[in-house]
Amino acid sequence: MALRKPTEARAWAALAEHYRQVSALHLRDLFAADPSRAKDLTFEAAGWRVDCSKHRITRETVALLVELAEECGLPARRDAMFRGERINVTEGRPALHIALRLPRGRSLVVGDEDVVPQVHRVLDRMADFATRVRLGAWKGHTGDRIRNIVNVGIGGSDLGPAMVYEALRFYADPNLQVRFVSNVDGSDLALALRDLDPASTLFIVCSKTFTTLETMVNARSAREWLLAKLKDPRAIQRHFVAVSTNEAAVREFGIAPENMFGFWDWVGGRYSVDSAIGLSTMIAIGPDGFREFLSGFHAMDEHFRSAPLHRNVPVLLGLLGVWYVNFFGCQSWAVVPYDHCLRRFPAYLQQLFMESNGKSVNLLGESVGYATSPVVWGEPGTNGQHSFFQLLHQGTVLVPCDFIGFCEPQSSLEHHHDFLIANLFAQAEALAFGRSAEEVAARGVPAGLVPHRTFPGNRPSTMLMAPRLTPRTLGALIALYEHVVFTQGVVWSINSFDQWGVELGKELADRIVPELRGSGALAHDPSTNAWIEYYRARRSRKA
Ligand code: F6P
Repeated sequence: MALRKPTEARAWAALAEHYRQVSALHLRDLFAADPSRAKDLTFEAAGWRVDCSKHRITRETVALLVELAEECGLPARRDAMFRGERINVTEGRPALHIALRLPRGRSLVVGDEDVVPQVHRVLDRMADFATRVRLGAWKGHTGDRIRNIVNVGIGGSDLGPAMVYEALRFYADPNLQVRFVSNVDGSDLALALRDLDPASTLFIVCSKTFTTLETMVNARSAREWLLAKLKDPRAIQRHFVAVSTNEAAVREFGIAPENMFGFWDWVGGRYSVDSAIGLSTMIAIGPDGFREFLSGFHAMDEHFRSAPLHRNVPVLLGLLGVWYVNFFGCQSWAVVPYDHCLRRFPAYLQQLFMESNGKSVNLLGESVGYATSPVVWGEPGTNGQHSFFQLLHQGTVLVPCDFIGFCEPQSSLEHHHDFLIANLFAQAEALAFGRSAEEVAARGVPAGLVPHRTFPGNRPSTMLMAPRLTPRTLGALIALYEHVVFTQGVVWSINSFDQWGVELGKELADRIVPELRGSGALAHDPSTNAWIEYYRARRSRKA
């Protein structure tokens, strides 16, 4: 495979030199020198308005970053992804989540199969099932109407559906409660079930592999809970459905194939919220809402596929990440949605970014020798302002921020919204422009307090806004970040679609489980041996 190491690209050296020239410039100076900067560095994509002007960049930075993307083969790699080529080289598969949102009637032939009709067949089955649950036509074993949905899954089989359900609560059927159980800690399942009636509860067991320890332990306990109350194994067929690629394991669990919704190995777990993994979302918001959601993804896909790189929003945001990580040395990136309903969005992005690009070898298996994914984290505004924003404004590390907001509120408490949005704009302004020591002193602040009350500013942020949080704008936002991750993965020459780094811990845990329950000799390191002994002596015998 011909591979362009980013550090060997001409643009990389040019960016290193350019960094020396511009890194000391203050955003105040950049704005003063270029009055049309705000307008020229603001872009539109799939219903989103994205302002990059509060970044420590000039037009030359953008040009050099775009050149880097070109030298690293971004357009060709993007087109290969859209054609369904096996770009996930370590697992020998395409990464074809874009096919999940292709409109009916389009075609995408992979091997000798058109995947689009397959996608729509599953969507139609999901729609039929979701409609029956919503209308009460799908009944529980005892004839009760389903009122509670419990999604059992973890990682991509949980974070996506859980985030989207919270995000779209105002679009969801209020007569249905949807809960999410992911943690193998029994408290998660116990708390989710303690006030539910099994007769009106439907479990959706979501697992691409249907072998994931946490999900299978939770699903088995959920099955026991149900059978303990309903006393008839036939009840499983009315109270359990599965979303998976592993039909044999689903059958073995006791769920009939007609109650299984499939997807394909070319859908990565963290890229699966728009596949059948979104079944809980479809039940909550209805099939039409789910189609709107998919249309948002598709609109952003089209933008990513066709917009010129220098106006391509996912490309630009991805390249800004490269700029700060590789040239400024930033190791952390904050995502702060100013929308309470997006409170799970930072957690969702953590998996998307860090499981995709938290890698230290390139596509050829060579050590990369440069930084890759930053740590992604965040909390909704305004809550974050009263916890970690102190560090963002006056701390010693530079943390670029993505601010996300909407012009219209979702709740009927409309007068709250101006307070929310005023804070959103104020934080971005304060981070960028700060307040100098002279300005502080001029306000009559005693000299001894001036350093404490000075804000250096020059702290970069992106502002992303859409008119309203809808299924469509949410779909577009998720797709935007998927393509940001892709862009960064291409520049860093890494495979954004595998996750071998999660395997070792799983393997060791499998070995330790019987050791905790037994009394035999241990052959770990002295520290791990001591912890196992400590736990053995104290563990609850009921376990
Ligand atoms: O944590 C590793 C991982 O494989 C994720 O990539 C995935 O989203 C999650 O586990 C769940 O996997 P599955 O859907 O197969 O249960």
